[in-house]
Amino acid sequence: MKVLVVGGAGYIGSHCVRQLLAAGHEPVVLDNFIYGHRAALTPSVKLYEASMADAAALDRIFTAERFDVVMHFAAYCYVGESVTAPLKYYQNNVAATLTLLEAMLKHGVKKFVFSSTCATFGIPEKMPMDENLPQAPINPYGQTKLDVENMLKAFAHAYGLSFAVFRYFNAAGASEDTTIGEAHDPETHLIPLAIWAAMGTAKPLQIFGNDFPTPDGTCQRDYVHVDDLSRAHIAAFDKLSTPGTQLFYNLGTGSPTSVLEVIKAIEKISGLKVPANFAPRRAGDPPALYADSSKAQRELGWTPKFKTIDSIVATAWRWHQSHPKGYAAK
Ligand code: UFG
Repeated sequence: MKVLVVGGAGYIGSHCVRQLLAAGHEPVVLDNFIYGHRAALTPSVKLYEASMADAAALDRIFTAERFDVVMHFAAYCYVGESVTAPLKYYQNNVAATLTLLEAMLKHGVKKFVFSSTCATFGIPEKMPMDENLPQAPINPYGQTKLDVENMLKAFAHAYGLSFAVFRYFNAAGASEDTTIGEAHDPETHLIPLAIWAAMGTAKPLQIFGNDFPTPDGTCQRDYVHVDDLSRAHIAAFDKLSTPGTQLFYNLGTGSPTSVLEVIKAIEKISGLKVPANFAPRRAGDPPALYADSSKAQRELGWTPKFKTIDSIVATAWRWHQSHPKGYAAK
């Protein structure tokens, strides 16, 4: 398949490009480099530097190339920022996505793979979380992703768009060859911050809350390797041939891991201590979020290769050790 990877220089997009190549597909990257990294690109892969909000640029690109599928990873993803700057989130995550979809329809490209999030569920009423739970996001980030999910349903019905929506739990880890990995600016995620604290390149980790109703009092999340996420996306291609197909999958390993367990895994893998202090809860953090991914396993034949937190953290550790300043000069 010839695949347009929108946001292909970002964290998950860049890993997906590698997995597409490994599976024999032909990825083409579209990125505006607001958050993407040039160093995350694969040199042999064609790049279009443009915004998905730029309808004229999209028109040129879709005229020049005949894509079979579009994969969309180009969302803004900071929950806290989405609360203080919702305009930015609706503009990029919803309005620009609409522009992308419009270009696809205009040029007859009718297969779409969308990265959504477990944040579309808000505070779930049961655990583990399957696809049938009601979706009630508690922040604009989750709402923008749900808005796109709903747009896609309408487009499938009206225009015969076929799509697969993947709702990620906590994307983590790095490529096994350590050449690409997680590099957000600002970085807010647990695993990079804890590794940096261990390496002494960041201040001690703040553990947000130790009074949650969980076994050790810290939040539980479902960390899933970024390459496993990518492989699930690619496995869905075969299912998109019938016009109007609508697929939804929750993607995680299904194992809840607490903040203290993540710290323990990092200490075990690195042989270093993670300096950490308990701090108040962070606003909006549910106590536990973990996936029931049996639908993806059943329908896509997907099983995560990285099943344990140790195996995921090991790849992240190698990435951060070899790239202490991320993609910036070492
Ligand atoms: N945490 C800390 N200290 C930190 C950072 C995080 O204790 O410095 C804790 C958080 O409170 C949370 C866990 O570590 O319990 C994981 O936090 P992350 O920020 O790494 O990830 P989130 O679970 O908050 O966010 C993820 C995705 C979002 C998505 C969200 C849905 O990164 O894109 O899940 O809830 F929206």
